[in-house]
Amino acid sequence: MKRVLVTGALGQIGTELVVKMREIYGADNIIASNRSGQEDHTLTQSGPFEVIDVTDAKRIFEVADKYKVDTIMHMAALLSATAENNPLLAWEINMGGLINALEVARELNCQFFTPSSIGAFGPSSPKDNTPQDTIQRPVTMYGVNKVAGELLCDYYYHKFGVDTRGVRFPGLISYVQPPGGGTTDYAVHIYYEALRHKKYTSYIDKGTYMDMMYMPDALNAIIDLMEADGDRLKHRNAFNVTAMSFDPEGIAAEIRKHIPEFTIDYKVDPMRQAIANSWPNSIDPTAAIEEWGFKAEYDLSRMTVDMLTKLKEKGI
Ligand code: SER
Repeated sequence: MKRVLVTGALGQIGTELVVKMREIYGADNIIASNRSGQEDHTLTQSGPFEVIDVTDAKRIFEVADKYKVDTIMHMAALLSATAENNPLLAWEINMGGLINALEVARELNCQFFTPSSIGAFGPSSPKDNTPQDTIQRPVTMYGVNKVAGELLCDYYYHKFGVDTRGVRFPGLISYVQPPGGGTTDYAVHIYYEALRHKKYTSYIDKGTYMDMMYMPDALNAIIDLMEADGDRLKHRNAFNVTAMSFDPEGIAAEIRKHIPEFTIDYKVDPMRQAIANSWPNSIDPTAAIEEWGFKAEYDLSRMTVDMLTKLKEKGI
């Protein structure tokens, strides 16, 4: 990884990934790109930035070729709830964008990363400690995209020798860029509302457990996997990774340790609840630990302390 093109760089993960990688690899070596929204974003000032709509294959090639990148990190995608509301658009962006980016990686001989998700599992997958290799029959468009994406990335590795690697991320929590259109977003919103109003109305019901991870651990996971010795990887697309599993009551109880007046109530959104119900309660990251040394530093209590501190510093 010497010169990296990041698509979807102004999204939930990309925003922080670009900053961290510019620190490690040098600002000029991380080419951030996004479809839109670049007008007033600091990322466009701290290093190279290009407008790329990932459904435009020629444009991805043009930028990758211009900067002579050796790595593509393909982050542009719609999250689960947005995808469920607009399945055809999700197919176009999540699948069309992915195969376009993979083709460029093949043509220019680039290493390749794209995130998969806990959404790649479905109701017939084992619910608890979901294994690395198991039944994957998701019932959401997002999940269909993620499973197809995992298979496509493995196909590009086996068929064309493209060094593709990926992780199945759980819900990602951060104080920097709020997520948009995901099912796990409640676990981010709850911190903002706890500070603003000491009260949160959750669209996910109590008793619904999902895997989660704090963003610093997610960024380390991406970089560690990409830097790992390829000979050690038995799996590629994509590795289960997780740091914690909780339900809305669990995160609320943790917040209450710092804001005793905090209360939570429920107004369940049937669509996002159905998505959450189809996902695992917790997944098993053993393969990632064994094959490339995955580790997470933040559990729920450490993350909560950091989230509340950082959001207060931001003036929330
Ligand atoms: N955080 C994502 C979502 O909720 C899961 O991959 O859509």
